[in-house]
Amino acid sequence: MQHFFLFLLLLVFLLPHETSYSAAAASGGGDRCSRRCGGATVPYPLGFSPGCPIALWCDASISTPILPYIGENGTTYRVIAFNSTISTVVVGLSPSCSRSVPEARRVLSGGNYGVSSRTGLFLRGGCGGVNASAGAGCSVPVDVMSRLLRTAQCVGISNDTSPAAVACVASRPANSTAAVNEQFLLWEKVEKQKCDEVLTSTVFVLTPEGTATLEFGVAELGWWLNGTCGTGGGERCAANATCTDVQTPNGELGHRCECVAGMEGDGFLAGDGCYLGES
Ligand SMILES: *[C@@H]1O[C@H](CO)[C@@H](O)[C@H](O)[C@H]1NC(C)=O
Ligand SMILES: *[C@@H]1O[C@H](CO)[C@@H](O)[C@H](O)[C@H]1NC(C)=O
Ligand SMILES: *[C@@H]1O[C@H](CO)[C@@H](O)[C@H](O)[C@H]1NC(C)=O
Ligand SMILES: *[C@@H]1O[C@H](CO)[C@@H](O)[C@H](O)[C@H]1NC(C)=O
Ligand SMILES: *[C@@H]1O[C@H](CO)[C@@H](O)[C@H](O)[C@H]1NC(C)=O
Ligand SMILES: *[C@@H]1O[C@H](CO)[C@@H](O)[C@H](O)[C@H]1NC(C)=O
Ligand SMILES: *[C@@H]1O[C@H](CO)[C@@H](O)[C@H](O)[C@H]1NC(C)=O
Repeated sequence: MQHFFLFLLLLVFLLPHETSYSAAAASGGGDRCSRRCGGATVPYPLGFSPGCPIALWCDASISTPILPYIGENGTTYRVIAFNSTISTVVVGLSPSCSRSVPEARRVLSGGNYGVSSRTGLFLRGGCGGVNASAGAGCSVPVDVMSRLLRTAQCVGISNDTSPAAVACVASRPANSTAAVNEQFLLWEKVEKQKCDEVLTSTVFVLTPEGTATLEFGVAELGWWLNGTCGTGGGERCAANATCTDVQTPNGELGHRCECVAGMEGDGFLAGDGCYLGES
């Protein structure tokens, strides 16, 4: 197979900074979902008020949504991008040598979102469960890996790029995105490696040209709403949107709304619905 991987080293420096997190004041009122954060607007079902099915925090000073979780030492995790079509957000996960596996799992898992199966994790420290002869599943060029480790300032092992030093839990195959039960990363697979830390992560993206790109320092999270399409008990999809059941990381079924091809929007009755884009 002739695959040319383009490695984009995207280093997201999350400097600790003093900010107060607030649900941004917005028009609308009532218990409706407020989706504005400073100058930014996020797609339903995400938002910043208790009326939103998936509540994020807002750093209004930089118009940036952040995950509703403060990690050890006050680390916060910024949302970098949204995609309503595939119900995902991309968050920064800067290289760190002190983010334990349970901590990473807590940060990246919520009541209605989880790490997508297109996200790969780089683990390090201990890694007692790694089968060294199987290469730990890493296929990252040594120079990229050593740069990651340098950026993370891992004490002592900063130039140890041997397969045993870092284990990778790979993304699932690209064509699994369509399968209802293969949308999310299996944390059991991660925990089986018995590593101490999640160094960083990567998102596997297949471009329209058919080439694969890997972006480092980011993780993709997929979201869902509770209840299945059939029950009618959950959030309603808008006209011109299709409803799809999705198996959530804890095994229950949830659903997603997606506008039909050619239309834009978040696909929800309670959100922007679907509309014809400019073209
Ligand atoms: C928090 O800071 C302490 C002291 O600097 C450090 O030892 C620890 O690893 C840090 N934890 C995280 C998650 O950054
Ligand atoms: C959302 O994801 C779809 C499918 O991968 C892609 O075609 C589309 O360009 C993405 N939209 C944005 C705004 O990135
Ligand atoms: C959906 O269900 C999960 C438990 O399975 C719960 O934690 C979460 O809060 C629910 N979400 C909403 C929007 O009610
Ligand atoms: C380790 O990987 C090698 C090569 O893939 C395989 O033959 C061997 O059975 C594996 N060992 C364990 C304990 O999984
Ligand atoms: C790291 O690299 C430096 C210089 O290249 C070398 O002196 C040192 O022994 C290396 N450390 C380890 C743990 O490999
Ligand atoms: C893609 O999906 C097909 C049908 O579900 C399956 O047979 C095939 O093995 C999958 N390819 C990969 C790379 O997983
Ligand atoms: C959108 O919905 C309207 C009304 O239900 C329908 O007439 C129209 O054909 C739909 N458009 C598309 C692109 O499905």
